[in-house]
Amino acid sequence: MLDRSSSSIAALIQPGRVHRRVYTDPDIFELEMERIFGRAWLFAGHSSQLAKPGDYITTELARQPVIMIRHSDGAIHVLFNRCAHRGAKIAPLRSGHAPRLTCCYHGWTYDSDGTLLNVPVPEGCARSFDTRDFALTPVPRVGIYRGFVFASLAKTGLSFEDHIGPMKANIDDLVDRAPDGELALDAGRHRYVFEGNWKLQVENVLDSYHVPFSHASTVNEKGEQFARREGDRHGAAVVDADKSRTAAPWKQRRSYITGNGHGWTSNTQLDDAKRSSPAFDEYRRVLAEKLGAERAQQILTPRLHNSLIYPNASIMGLNIHVRVINPVAVDRTEVTVFPVRLVGAPPAMNFGNIRLLNVTHSAASFVQTDDLESFVRVQNGLRSQAADWVDISRGLGEEEPDRELNATRELATHEMVVRAQYRAWLDYMQQAA
Ligand code: FES
Ligand SMILES: [Fe+2]
Repeated sequence: MLDRSSSSIAALIQPGRVHRRVYTDPDIFELEMERIFGRAWLFAGHSSQLAKPGDYITTELARQPVIMIRHSDGAIHVLFNRCAHRGAKIAPLRSGHAPRLTCCYHGWTYDSDGTLLNVPVPEGCARSFDTRDFALTPVPRVGIYRGFVFASLAKTGLSFEDHIGPMKANIDDLVDRAPDGELALDAGRHRYVFEGNWKLQVENVLDSYHVPFSHASTVNEKGEQFARREGDRHGAAVVDADKSRTAAPWKQRRSYITGNGHGWTSNTQLDDAKRSSPAFDEYRRVLAEKLGAERAQQILTPRLHNSLIYPNASIMGLNIHVRVINPVAVDRTEVTVFPVRLVGAPPAMNFGNIRLLNVTHSAASFVQTDDLESFVRVQNGLRSQAADWVDISRGLGEEEPDRELNATRELATHEMVVRAQYRAWLDYMQQAA
């Protein structure tokens, strides 16, 4: 039985190490759903997934089903996906179009803002029955930044601005790459489920240490993709050193943290002088035409890519996509990968990016499968009672301020970002309801 006191939770995290129970104890997982996913600002979806009124997507926040839907006035609503009558899920599909939501069970019908519009056989309702008492329940708090929709299941807590604030620049960094200044997450999705704890995926998205080893069949010893020319030919982003800041190869790249568990690595180089393809050249031309040569050059020199917005979203600038991490059980996690289209970019370039993503991060891809194998092996290995602690001490004490970026940085092969995630984890987990 888990001792939920602050001191007992704190004892699970020590400088440079994490107790294995944090990954394996079902009681800790339940507490995470209550204290982290039940409170934090969670990425729910993107406005481009709701092109017109009545368009909706469904997802889960802390295992609770929700609908994100665009109302007739254009506003986006995030509602619990639960009929106010006897509880049936209203929208069963992952996405769809329904200006009116009708429950399959007894036919109650709701408007796209959750208002209850119609109850069949109304003469059977109790005399005191008032449809206004039976709207779909909204998720308590919703915050939107440049199309990225976040929701919090808690009525109070850290404001959206305070949570997302430092990461706005990372979102800007990707959105600004679209010549029309907007993204579209409308190219389908990949989904994979692995038998491992959710934090294994969260830790991994900014883990530069594993790349040449886990992904040896895809990258060389410098962490650069073997498929580099292939990427170029299709106009896709490729792995490269962070020439804009350090001209550094894999071992010298940097990671950054900025509080609240968020972080990023800056290892993407779009404006590679050697890089040229009809699609990329056209993209560069369109960007310069719309925004001016100087601004285009700035945009093509990204610094903030491959971001983690703690606790459930990553924005990858390398092979552009948004990834959403959805904990299912202590040893089961579902991840959805959304390809991203840069609106206004040449179709061939967007197609090339999506194609690269299919090859790297779909369920049956060259890269993602390597990570999934590692996650499952970690989850299995941690059953061993031989040692209680998981080591995350690489670079401990070597963090340094980056005043220009208002962040803290360290070598990307160190484990500063993981330690930062556990600081945020502790902040959430130590707060009782
Ligand atoms: S449960 Fe939805 S109408 Fe009865
Ligand atoms: Fe990986």
